[in-house]
Amino acid sequence: MARELTHQEQLLGNKVVYQIYVRSFCDSNGDGVGDLAGITSKLDYLAELGVDCVWITPFFVSPQNDNGYDVADYRAIDPLFGTMADFEELACEASRRGMELMLDMVFNHTSTEHEWFQRALSGDPTYLAYYKFVDAAPGATAADPGEPPTNWESKFGGNAWEYVPSLNKWYLHLFDVSQADLNWDNPAVRAELADVLRFWRGKGVNAFRFDVVNLISKPDTWENDAEGDGRRFYSDGPHIHEFLQELVREGGIDGLLTVGEMSSTSLESCIGYTNPTHHELAMAFNFHHLKVDYQDGDKWALARPNIAALRDLFVTWQEQMTAGGGWNSLFWSNHDQPRPNSRFGDTERFWFESSTLLPTCTHLMRGTPYIYQGEELGQTIMDFASIDQYRDVESLNYYRILQERGHAAEEAFAIVRARSRDDGRYPMAWDGSPAAGFTSGEPWIGLPANHERINVATEKDDEGSVLAYFMRLIRLRKAEAVIQAGDVRFVDAGNDCVIAYERTLDDTRLLVQCNFSGEEVPALPTDGGELLVGNYAQPAANVLGPWEARAHIWR
Ligand code: GLC
Repeated sequence: MARELTHQEQLLGNKVVYQIYVRSFCDSNGDGVGDLAGITSKLDYLAELGVDCVWITPFFVSPQNDNGYDVADYRAIDPLFGTMADFEELACEASRRGMELMLDMVFNHTSTEHEWFQRALSGDPTYLAYYKFVDAAPGATAADPGEPPTNWESKFGGNAWEYVPSLNKWYLHLFDVSQADLNWDNPAVRAELADVLRFWRGKGVNAFRFDVVNLISKPDTWENDAEGDGRRFYSDGPHIHEFLQELVREGGIDGLLTVGEMSSTSLESCIGYTNPTHHELAMAFNFHHLKVDYQDGDKWALARPNIAALRDLFVTWQEQMTAGGGWNSLFWSNHDQPRPNSRFGDTERFWFESSTLLPTCTHLMRGTPYIYQGEELGQTIMDFASIDQYRDVESLNYYRILQERGHAAEEAFAIVRARSRDDGRYPMAWDGSPAAGFTSGEPWIGLPANHERINVATEKDDEGSVLAYFMRLIRLRKAEAVIQAGDVRFVDAGNDCVIAYERTLDDTRLLVQCNFSGEEVPALPTDGGELLVGNYAQPAANVLGPWEARAHIWR
């Protein structure tokens, strides 16, 4: 008798989510910035790719200091991206093709241009209580505000507190100074945010991503962090589970396709967030596996990826999340990450293999795969030659900070070049023309020269393309119950650069082997198995070639 799939497996196991960075996907009006109508014009492409759900990064009214993650009005569309009518048309066209839209809710903070913050600035006590304001010492002045309430660092560099002279108070901003942290301890704030969810539910939206949502619960007292940047006090904070449960209940989103972005989180917390009996979220993003090329945890210090550490993290998160009844999002890439094929592979010598090894490794795991726009084409990191070509607030801040820390300008530039979020933010390449078919105008940020060959037009009719390979992986997930719901167990392939695992369901067994190196290495035996998918046309029985990935199935 075949095992009956759980509700969680049925809801999440056969889905693939595609992420669109709205500003860089497709521009319909020639202003150089992508927009909602542009997305609508490309829905057929997404339907053909076979994705079920399209996550669109924030398109709400915003001063765009952090490209829309600084929201000034949660219920209105930024004119840069279109109108509410454009959104409604997009939603209707997506649903006609059987796809869900996933909206990106930035609820840890608002823009300082949000009406709530503006009212707080005018001294209105109701709205002061919407944010984390702390009194400054008596007699503090703009010129000499004294010490901030804590030594915590902003994720974008510098202290996380800003002094407001007219109030003689500090406010907390874990991100940019123009992104003020909301006070979730205030029930009125929680009610406002649940109401925002109900507003979008009313427009037919059934899927949500929650930005840095495990940072919403701050501690009751403000303490300096003697060991770090403060994150241990507010990541997976004291009331996080209560707050999420209330938001999910009041927002009417229990059991829907939801995902939380969890910054510096723990396994135990993520089981809590995603085990369906807790009525929090459907799945979680954690980022531990994307730090294996940081030196001592520092994003701004370069190191080669440590594949043994990567493997250990996959073992832990795959096996333990399953044991705890949680659910993983599977991903290498998003708008905050440099392109993964350049980062974990060798795009100079083995571009195709590197670009297909990575999705083979994650798409066949237990969880829900995410594809970030352009990843399905094998888009690489940028080839920018100068800092003026970068746009991201974090990259520009760190270019300065690295020099203040003693790096020469060229060194600082080399680090930014390897780590910039802009590497993942340049336009989607639709064709090989100068602006890549992305816009008829001047794109808001440049593109690497290799878009002349890495683009939709050249790849779409080529069976041997990266794009065709991604389509195969998506189709496989839909076809094979063992991928949707099988148990997962990692296998020791006897080599630090090989990541191998087995999935099993009833009498079916799948074995996935991925060689994260440019050398040949011994392969695990696959006698009697059928080759389900692989990135080599003629795989050798006993050897994995450079950056080779393959999966065999026994039924
Ligand atoms: C998340 C977003 C990132 C943004 C930050 C602050 O990490 O993905 O782009 O800058 O939150 O909202």
